[in-house]
Amino acid sequence: MPNPLFTPDRLGEIELANRIVMAPMTRDRAGPGDEPTELMVEYYRQRASAGLIVTEGAQPSPVGKGYWRTPGIHSPEQVEGWRKVADAVHAEGGRIVVQLMHCGRVVVPANRGFEADVIAPSAVACPDDVPGPDGVPAPCAMPRAIRVEEIPALVADYAQAARNAVAAGLDGVELHCASGYLINQFLNPASNRRDDQYGGAIENRMRFPIAVLAAMAEAIGPGRVGFRIAPGNPYNGMDTSDPAATFAPFVKAADALGLAYVHVIDMGLEDLDSLAMLRANWSGAIIANNMLTAESGEALLAAGRADAVSFGRAFIANPDLVARMRAGAPLARPDYARLYTGEERGYTDYPAL
Ligand SMILES: Cc1cc2nc3c(=O)[nH]c(=O)nc-3n(C[C@H](O)[C@H](O)[C@H](O)COP(=O)(O)O)c2cc1C
Repeated sequence: MPNPLFTPDRLGEIELANRIVMAPMTRDRAGPGDEPTELMVEYYRQRASAGLIVTEGAQPSPVGKGYWRTPGIHSPEQVEGWRKVADAVHAEGGRIVVQLMHCGRVVVPANRGFEADVIAPSAVACPDDVPGPDGVPAPCAMPRAIRVEEIPALVADYAQAARNAVAAGLDGVELHCASGYLINQFLNPASNRRDDQYGGAIENRMRFPIAVLAAMAEAIGPGRVGFRIAPGNPYNGMDTSDPAATFAPFVKAADALGLAYVHVIDMGLEDLDSLAMLRANWSGAIIANNMLTAESGEALLAAGRADAVSFGRAFIANPDLVARMRAGAPLARPDYARLYTGEERGYTDYPAL
């Protein structure tokens, strides 16, 4: 039997040459207007042999920005930058979707370079420090609670960002619903203390996330929209007490939209098999992630537990990861000191085999 890692696949409308996905990774190399730079074009071009690239998180609007030098996908200059990225990846035969990441309350104001509100479901600050300019950890700002009448415009920002992605020639979008950012802040009771129709029971906490997915699906077609979850991930102050109670109903509701895929960071929880939970509540494709190797990824695909597998850190120092896995070649190790330094070194200077 051929190794399923190297067989083609289809996620909604997106055709993949293999089932090795590059996981989204924030790398802080955007330009002064938060636009993708030539350096980013080169970085993604080098990694285009992945069956699918999921880009670093990109903010759908200025207030969505929380980190230093993260790209946006809301201005014409940013869309132009993404067009160069998309063209470069397509010229190498690859596929690429942009991850839409609104940080919500996870904002170090000095990272932004402009003045804007910090907004969240409720006025509860993120308890964790996050990287500030040049990667030095700093405290997050106190957010103000989003007013109910602001919600339609927030949903519309995501739909417009999805349209911008397609206009740039990207193959689709992935909604970041993990790691304690805005969508996760709505889903999680630690950050969502609202007493209106967007807070309380899970039916209410998922109202905004589902509205965003539905609006993006309507804007660009459901077959170009995926989303990412990480049940049980405590990152950025999330309550992890009962992830199935949140994510099973959320995924079931999302399933009705006929989306391209769900991408799951499997936290290896003792009391919840996230992949089995997904198969029980989700009829579409599953991309599995977290600490996988060529061997464990192949085993997940062979067992039918996932349809594709994603690798994050392995892609940092191995732009030709697919060829290396095919050849059984050793993997290079990343220079973790240069993850967020904004320069070429530790970014585009890792050689192929
Ligand atoms: C430098 C770095 C930046 C990351 N940025 C993001 C991000 O922007 N969005 C996201 O969903 N996950 C992000 N992640 C998480 C990765 O997508 C992935 O889930 C994680 O690295 C585990 O996969 P791995 O074991 O294959 O590395 C990031 C991880 C790293 C190492």
